[in-house]
Amino acid sequence: MNNLIEDIDFLKKEEKEAETCQIVKISEDSNTGKSRKLYIESYGCQMNFSDSEIVSSIMNKNGFDTTSELEQADVIFLNTCSIREKAEQTVRNRLSQFNALKRRKPELMVGILGCMAERLKSQLLEEERIVDLVAGPDAYRDLPVLVNQVDDGQKAVNTFLSREETYADISPVRLNSNGITAFISIMRGCDNMCSFCVVPFTRGRERSRDPHSIIEEAQDLFNKGYREVTLLGQNVDSYKWSPEQNNKAKLEKSDVSHIVNFAQLLDKVAKVHPDLRVRFSTSHPKDITDEVLYTIKEHENICNYIHLPAQSGNSRILKMMNRTYDRSWYINRVDAIRTIIGDDCGISSDMITGFCTETEEEHQDTLSLMDYVKYDFSYMFFYSERPGTLAEKKYEDDIPLDIKKRRLSEIISRQQKHSLERNQMEVGKIHRVLVEGFSKRSEAQLQGRNSANKVVIFPKRTAKKGDYVNVLVEDCSTATLFGKVID
Ligand code: SAH
Ligand code: SF4
Ligand code: F3S
Repeated sequence: MNNLIEDIDFLKKEEKEAETCQIVKISEDSNTGKSRKLYIESYGCQMNFSDSEIVSSIMNKNGFDTTSELEQADVIFLNTCSIREKAEQTVRNRLSQFNALKRRKPELMVGILGCMAERLKSQLLEEERIVDLVAGPDAYRDLPVLVNQVDDGQKAVNTFLSREETYADISPVRLNSNGITAFISIMRGCDNMCSFCVVPFTRGRERSRDPHSIIEEAQDLFNKGYREVTLLGQNVDSYKWSPEQNNKAKLEKSDVSHIVNFAQLLDKVAKVHPDLRVRFSTSHPKDITDEVLYTIKEHENICNYIHLPAQSGNSRILKMMNRTYDRSWYINRVDAIRTIIGDDCGISSDMITGFCTETEEEHQDTLSLMDYVKYDFSYMFFYSERPGTLAEKKYEDDIPLDIKKRRLSEIISRQQKHSLERNQMEVGKIHRVLVEGFSKRSEAQLQGRNSANKVVIFPKRTAKKGDYVNVLVEDCSTATLFGKVID
């Protein structure tokens, strides 16, 4: 019944801005003299935005430039999300807006990519007559063939899920780029079976990408002037690469030297250059190790910020969610972060309210966990039952919508209080900020983020995009720090 866009109506405008990474992103103009134009819109998580960059690259090699103007498009792709019911509804509404466009330009091709394509497969062609092409997350190499099929007057579908595909060799076309920060996909799929979650069904089995190609991509970005990379995966802490796993060579049992885990990958990416900041998302509480935390501590350029979704503060609910940790395990991981990295390490969470059978006391446990951790930021949702998930099969979605919404608004206001408290702690301190560009409100102000991922705004003076500056923080709101550059 819900998605982030609806959830964040509860939030003030400032918080909405902080969440733009999860809202729609639209392709920008590229002009390399290709004969046809692709317009691509991405919904959902950062993985989808990163995939759209791979799709643009594949399409670019096959005769397409990207455009930000719908009217100019020969092909429209929507890269979709299935995480909550409302996310799919948003895409269906968007599709209905294309009808008039298609009437004016009958040769216009409309394709659905991503998680909704994978979940609904050819059913989408029947339900949404305007759709010509359906491609799941592992089928993007096949897009040129699918486009040809549509050019020949047929509908085209490929929702094959792969155990190997990582698109390691494809150099993404950076979309919506500020030229300073970029995402690098380090793995795909998810082997966890959180009972509420559709991702294992839409993204397939977990697989890790060759570390050499990750490091090359990071180095290449640095050479092009980028100063921050975010390593992406649904569960980055379970990153594990071995040549054997990737069928490149047979490993002797004793030869574990070729295996690269997440801590080792972080270390390698951090060594690309001390001026290249490294971030990562998402960490799973069951898998984040002290080795990862010590690696963060050891490298100045690995940011002190961990997105560690709890989902709930109650152990019975966590068990029903199949998260495979309980409240005390989660608290132990938070304590380890505070002890090893320090109190100023940013921690954020995802929370779901109103999961099946959740009682008022269990909801209070989520609030008390929030009080314990004092998250800097959280993405908060109410439970939306998804077809095919374990929860849909095993449990009744029995919490009335008004109670789900009331609980959600309670955790949102608690989070706002904590965000403000955490930001107030930074007032009077000096922060190293990577400048990302002008602030949204004025070109006299610049905007960047500190290591803990907090947005910092300050008067421009001589600083420019891509610089590291020291900012004395003088004021804050729930979402932003304000200050001035000091020499
Ligand atoms: N891999 C990440 C989460 C990816 S999905 C992790 O394990 O933390 C992003 C978030 O969407 C989840 O953390 C969860 O809070 C939320 N979510 C997923 N399925 C949902 C559902 N059925 N209803 C409401 N929120 C959901
Ligand atoms: Fe979904 Fe759980 Fe995998 Fe995250 S770890 S993507 S919540 S199944
Ligand atoms: Fe949505 Fe798929 Fe990401 S369901 S959250 S786009 S992995």
